[in-house]
Amino acid sequence: MKSSAPTCCLILCFFASSLVHVSVCLPFILLHGIADQCSNKGVKNITDQLTQLSKSEGFCLEIGDGTWDSWFKTLHEQTEIACNKVKQMKELKDGYNIVVEVRAIGRGIVQLCDGGPPVKNFISLGGPHAGTASVPLCGNGTFCIIADNIIKSGIYTDYVQAHLAPSGYLKLPNNIPAYLEKCSFLPKLNNEIPEERNATYKQRFTSLQNLVLIMFEHETVLIPKETSWFGYYPDGTFNPALSPQKTKLYSEDWIGLKTLDEAGRVKFIKVAGNHLGISTADMKKHVVLYLQDAAKDTPLSTEQRFDQSQLSDVERYH
Ligand SMILES: *[C@@H]1O[C@H](CO)[C@@H](O)[C@H](O)[C@H]1NC(C)=O
Ligand SMILES: *[C@@H]1O[C@H](CO)[C@@H](O)[C@H](O)[C@H]1NC(C)=O
Ligand SMILES: *[C@@H]1O[C@H](CO)[C@@H](O)[C@H](O)[C@H]1NC(C)=O
Repeated sequence: MKSSAPTCCLILCFFASSLVHVSVCLPFILLHGIADQCSNKGVKNITDQLTQLSKSEGFCLEIGDGTWDSWFKTLHEQTEIACNKVKQMKELKDGYNIVVEVRAIGRGIVQLCDGGPPVKNFISLGGPHAGTASVPLCGNGTFCIIADNIIKSGIYTDYVQAHLAPSGYLKLPNNIPAYLEKCSFLPKLNNEIPEERNATYKQRFTSLQNLVLIMFEHETVLIPKETSWFGYYPDGTFNPALSPQKTKLYSEDWIGLKTLDEAGRVKFIKVAGNHLGISTADMKKHVVLYLQDAAKDTPLSTEQRFDQSQLSDVERYH
């Protein structure tokens, strides 16, 4: 008889409760992309699919009203709302995983949330981790028209930074001084400003068990696509993009990416497809795996987990 995901998770719970006091089958929260909301079909579908496939409890975490606030509330405000929500969710108190579509506030919750429950696995789908060098392209919708009009008045101004969320991670390589001075979110999150580096952000980030960075091979929204792995353009020029290891953020270990990587806890994953177009097969392989896996620090090995004799023991037990 084949070991299925549900039984697998049962085994994990069974063994963990009998061996050590780590929580397994941790719940996860999903942070949907910009211009989306938890009540939309696609987001519901992803949350349901991840829940069903991993057999872990999943919650779509809404911030404000969803669509509008994802565009126009500052990333600091969005992070604060999310931080307060995760602190209030009893289900998360022993730890949880985060699956995030694009949004920079995912890492905001890990690094900036004082007194929040511990985040174990962080799975990022197309994240603008090192910034993006292009204004979001979104065509004709109302939001886009408003956004474009705001953008025209200049990205690195107090006004834009206060009114257009993505401006908080827009990093124009030909204007780094203005970025460092005015960009409201990413320079802080990435400990980019030498005199303002905060060791707490680094300590929290390096406490992740797994950092799964998924890049889309044909990404057209985030420029350059390597940003999803923390790769970026060198200061002053638009190309070529540096690999993550060649950036100063990595080599000088501003937020602990190097530390995590050297500990084998960063998974650099490239999948086919454009922005967020992940296949179900890739989702199982690269996302669901980490929602099921919460027992890295228990004595269970992968072999044990799939051991058929244990499976039948557990089934008899139940
Ligand atoms: C999600 O959408 C896919 C099609 O895109 C569909 O095949 C699947 O049944 C849906 N899953 C859920 C849980 O709604
Ligand atoms: C924008 O709107 C016009 C008219 O409503 C339409 O013809 C055009 O295809 C739209 N362009 C995009 C990029 O959606
Ligand atoms: C660093 O961040 C922590 C957590 O937000 C905060 O308590 C602390 O005051 C910050 N330290 C400095 C030097 O800004």
